[in-house]
Amino acid sequence: MNLDIRPQADRCNDLSYEDILNLDTRPVPAYLRQGPVPDIGTDPVPAGNYTDPAFFQQEVDKLWSRCWQMACREEDIPNVGDYVVYDMVGKSYLIVRTAPDTIKALLNVCLHRGRKLATQGGCKSRFRCMFHGFEWNIDGSFKHNPMAWDFPQWEGQDMRLPEARVARWGGFVFVNFDPEAKPLDDIIHPIPEHFARYDLANMYTALHIAKTFPANWKAVAEAFMESHHSITTHPQFMAFLGDANSQYDVFSPYVSRQFSAMGVPSPFVDKSQLSESDIWAAMLRSSGRVREWEQGEGPTVPEGVRARACAAEQQRHALAAQDGEDYSDISDAEMLDPLLYNLWPNLSVWAGFSLNLVYRWRPVDVDTAIMDVRVLKRVPKNGPRPRPAPLQVLGVDEPCATVEGLGSLGGVFDQDMANLPYVQQGLKAGGRDFPVHFGKYSELRIRQLHRTLADFMAG
Ligand code: FES
Ligand SMILES: [Fe+2]
Repeated sequence: MNLDIRPQADRCNDLSYEDILNLDTRPVPAYLRQGPVPDIGTDPVPAGNYTDPAFFQQEVDKLWSRCWQMACREEDIPNVGDYVVYDMVGKSYLIVRTAPDTIKALLNVCLHRGRKLATQGGCKSRFRCMFHGFEWNIDGSFKHNPMAWDFPQWEGQDMRLPEARVARWGGFVFVNFDPEAKPLDDIIHPIPEHFARYDLANMYTALHIAKTFPANWKAVAEAFMESHHSITTHPQFMAFLGDANSQYDVFSPYVSRQFSAMGVPSPFVDKSQLSESDIWAAMLRSSGRVREWEQGEGPTVPEGVRARACAAEQQRHALAAQDGEDYSDISDAEMLDPLLYNLWPNLSVWAGFSLNLVYRWRPVDVDTAIMDVRVLKRVPKNGPRPRPAPLQVLGVDEPCATVEGLGSLGGVFDQDMANLPYVQQGLKAGGRDFPVHFGKYSELRIRQLHRTLADFMAG
């Protein structure tokens, strides 16, 4: 197998994602076909948008106080009284299940002298401030003041905790601190329609990690918004990932997606040097199944069959064994490919059946962000809903490869993450006006992220 990199082919010089779908063994749902590709120019973005504390403060004031953001999953708070603490650049809210089908976001601030009411999630029948003992019911209504005789100014007043807006989709709980913001339903289209078949609400969190990065939140998010970084960041993918010929679609200022084909060689490599068995072997090697491959115990690619078809079929059997569902009619694309949808500004959810990852990027300060990753799995057909996996917090220097259960993905994340400190350092070294350039097509989604951000910053 020769993986020598040849001169780059653009998407016009290789199979498109559509072409690959046309060669697949089963038809795909129509929504996986080419979507809108708006022309949003080629203007660069100044590095200061990633490095300038004043720009970051404007994001805090004009973006994070006004956008829909995923706070948790419903499964994190299954019972009445369960809550999580959602912190976002200085704001803090309690996301509480106040009734079996009601979730509220309550300001996590005591209305007496401002102590945070809770510092970590749990289950409560009331929120009692640890400073002087004032109490609120879990629905935010005021319950008790042990010094009521000394607070005449509270008499006859509604001292309920202020609320943020809450919306739900796919088992996710979203909050918005802006009472004037458009409803989530208005901005999330067409994600609910495209995900109807995958029923994320009926999935559970099988793995959940969070890691802090010394980079601006946008730089971190953007490392997961195109595929062509594989050429140098993930060279092990070259034999079996259609990276440069990925499909990028932008549906609205808020929703975009990218699809990359698995089981086909990258346009960066010389395909004439790769047999279908080479491709399959590289997939096995990359997935950590080295022994199987080395010892020739892995599935072989029969004559006339493509590695992509072979891998999809194997995945159908593996998933059926895992959750008891029938995948025999599911398309190759949905069994194999990373089908990443992004909801602006900071959520990415993978469609399909193979791997349902969820990424969320939260700013800490201009130079620091937290990325958390969930692995969602379908609730077994005949089994009870498993409890969500507890959050594992990784330190800046802790590699993802050490996370049990993450498999080969851990090493892939470490490859992505190795770039990020140097991206932030380079952007700073370039200076505030250093022009950051994006590909017109392959980095279209990143360009759209900045355009919608600019709209918000303009008010
Ligand atoms: S600050 Fe909460 S009871 Fe005083
Ligand atoms: Fe990557």
